[in-house]
Amino acid sequence: MDIDINPADLAASQLVAAASLLNRARRIVCLTGAGVSAESGIPTFRDAQTGLWARFDPLQLASQEGFALEPGLVWQWYMARLRTVERAQPNPGHLALAHLERRAPHFTLVTQNVDDLHERAGSHSALHLHGRIDRFHCNRCGFDHTLTAQERSAPEPPQCLACGDSVRPSVVWFGESLPGRILDHAWRAAERCDVILVVGTSGVVYPAAQLPLLAHQFGARIIEVNPERSTLADLLHVHLQGPAGVLLPALLAAL
Ligand code: OAD
Repeated sequence: MDIDINPADLAASQLVAAASLLNRARRIVCLTGAGVSAESGIPTFRDAQTGLWARFDPLQLASQEGFALEPGLVWQWYMARLRTVERAQPNPGHLALAHLERRAPHFTLVTQNVDDLHERAGSHSALHLHGRIDRFHCNRCGFDHTLTAQERSAPEPPQCLACGDSVRPSVVWFGESLPGRILDHAWRAAERCDVILVVGTSGVVYPAAQLPLLAHQFGARIIEVNPERSTLADLLHVHLQGPAGVLLPALLAAL
């Protein structure tokens, strides 16, 4: 016998299931990726790049080798992305997560995003696993720099005031270690949480992608918000299939 399930009913029951898990949880971790900022107009990493930058592979630019080979190109690519971030506004998905942080007893927000849209939406505790695109430090001596608009729009990276080497954005590149204290904090929270909410990440970049697996290993339930099936598909308790800017406010309303 075939059973017809109305997709709208299925989506509604998934929302109810997710809300019930969140309502019962004492400790919640939320891991976000580029997908949460997509509706703010910031392209995700694995989306086709458009316009001027279409011929460059961001995964090659985001490395020490890429910077050594073509510092000007890497600098201009990041500064173009920073301008996009600065023009962008938090979307309803960011705002819903900030609300959730305020109403949950223990809420840890871990993001792979280098933008500050969670903070601008009102989240207080975002742990940036991959750093921040609006912060800068020397590539050799680590000295922190605040840059003028002119330095940011220069064709080459500015020189460090302390040692003369190149200044770079404070993001984590491929092959580099993640900031230790932030990673420890995120790992401890994942080990102790009851629910992990995974929003807008393809789950292919480690160690960030390990976080839901770790939480699951320690007994947490996994809720995912993503229009696509991700690498977590087999472990999910609830998949909210669709855009974060629509489904996170709907989830908040269902709590
Ligand atoms: P990806 O570009 O790999 O994946 C984006 C995910 O967001 C995909 O699974 C999409 O299906 C999903 N998505 C797209 N639009 C969405 C929407 N409106 N709502 C919800 N989900 C949506 O981005 P990340 O997983 O964040 O690392 O990539 C991880 C890391 O790889 C990045 O932090 C970056 C990158 O290289 C570094 O820079 C070190």
